[in-house]
Amino acid sequence: MESLIGLVNRLQNACTLLGDYGSAGDSVFSSVPTLWESLPSVVVVGGQSSGKSSVLESIVGRDFLPRGSGIVTRRPLVLQLHKTEPRVEDYAEFLHLPKQRFTDFSMVRKEIQDETDKMTGTNRRISPVPIHLTIYSPNVVNLTLIDLPGLTKVAIEGQPEAIVRDIESMVRSYILKPNCIILAITPANQDIATSDAIKLSKEVDPLGERTFGVLTKLDLMDKGTNAVDILEGRAYQLRHPWVGIVNRSQADINNKVDMVAARQREHEFFATSLDYSHLAGRMGSEYLAKLLSKHLEAEIKARIPAITSLINHSIDELEREMSHIGNPVAVDAAAQLYTILELCRAFERVFKEHLDGGRPGGDR
Ligand code: GDP
Ligand code: NA
Ligand code: MG
Repeated sequence: MESLIGLVNRLQNACTLLGDYGSAGDSVFSSVPTLWESLPSVVVVGGQSSGKSSVLESIVGRDFLPRGSGIVTRRPLVLQLHKTEPRVEDYAEFLHLPKQRFTDFSMVRKEIQDETDKMTGTNRRISPVPIHLTIYSPNVVNLTLIDLPGLTKVAIEGQPEAIVRDIESMVRSYILKPNCIILAITPANQDIATSDAIKLSKEVDPLGERTFGVLTKLDLMDKGTNAVDILEGRAYQLRHPWVGIVNRSQADINNKVDMVAARQREHEFFATSLDYSHLAGRMGSEYLAKLLSKHLEAEIKARIPAITSLINHSIDELEREMSHIGNPVAVDAAAQLYTILELCRAFERVFKEHLDGGRPGGDR
C-alpha cells in the first residue's frame, strides 16, 4: 500500500495544479476550507540566516538549495521526500517539469532559482505560487516540508520595501491553519526571546501544541554558555521536545564538506559534548527527520475522515465543473479536471483502506 504521506503528496500536487494552495490561491474549489488546507503539512519558519536551508539539506542529505545573501527563497517550496528501495540512485523531479529526472543536484538548485525568477520577475518580489519538488532516495524518510521565505526586518537593495510585510503575511497565512505543523527554527547564538520563529508561532499556537522547536548553531554559542535549559524544555515550553542541530558552517560549505561528513560530525558533537551527551539520542537532523515523519503520518491518519469528506465535496464540485465543460476528451482543461477527478476517487478508496486497519481491500 502507498504510504499515507505519499498519498497526501499526490493530493497536494493536484491541488496546486488546480490553483488551490491555501488562501493565496485562486482555486476552482469553492469549498471552505479548501482541500489543500485540510492536508497536514510541516512548514519551516525562521528568520533569515537562522539555518532553515541548512536544516532542510541536512534532512535530505543533499546539497540542492539556492544560497546567497538577501531573500533567496521567494516562493514556497513544497519539498516531498520519498523513500525508495535500497540501491536506487537519488533523483529529483519538479511538478512543473513532469517526466524530467534530475540526478545532478546542482541542476536542481539552478531550476529552483530559474523557476523562482520566472514567477517573481527581476524586481525580486515574492510569489505565493509554490514550487513542488520531489526527491526520491533510499536514504530519506517519507516526509513533506514546506520552505517559506525567511522572516526579515529590512529589505535589501533593489527589493521593494513591502517585501518585509509580504513575507510575514505569507508565513502567517500558512501557520494560522490548524493542520499546519510548525517547524520553528531558532539560532542558539541569539536570545530566544528575539527569535522571529518563536514570536510568530506563539501568536498562532500559544500553547505550543503544533510547534516543533529546532535550535541550530549550537556550535556557535559563547564559551561557557549552553542551551540545556531550552533543549530540556524549561526555558520555553512546547508540547513536543526541542531538537538541537549542528549544521555546516559557511567555512564548511566553502570547503565543500559533504553532507555525510557533516552528519557524522553532528553525531560526534552531541555524543562527546559535556553539556549535551545525556540528550544525544534525541538531537541532530537524522533524529529530527524521523520524529517529523512519524508525527506527520499520525496527523494524517487522525484526519482521514475529514479529508475524505472534503474529497467527496471536491468530487461533487469537479463533476459539476465537468458537466459545464462537456466532453473531456475534446477540451484540454476538462481532460485535466477529469484526471484529477479520477485521482480524487482513487484517494478516497485508499484512504478508506487505511481507515479499515491498513489492509488493502480491508473490511468495508
Ligand atoms: P537560512 O537563511 O535560514 O536558510 O539559513 P542558512 O541555512 O542559509 O544558513 C545561514 C548561514 O549560517 C550559513 O552560512 C550556514 O553555513 C550557517 N549555519 C547554519 N546553521 C549552522 C550551524 O548549526 N552551525 C554553524 N556553525 N553554522 C550554521
Ligand atoms: Na529566528
Ligand atoms: Mg535559506
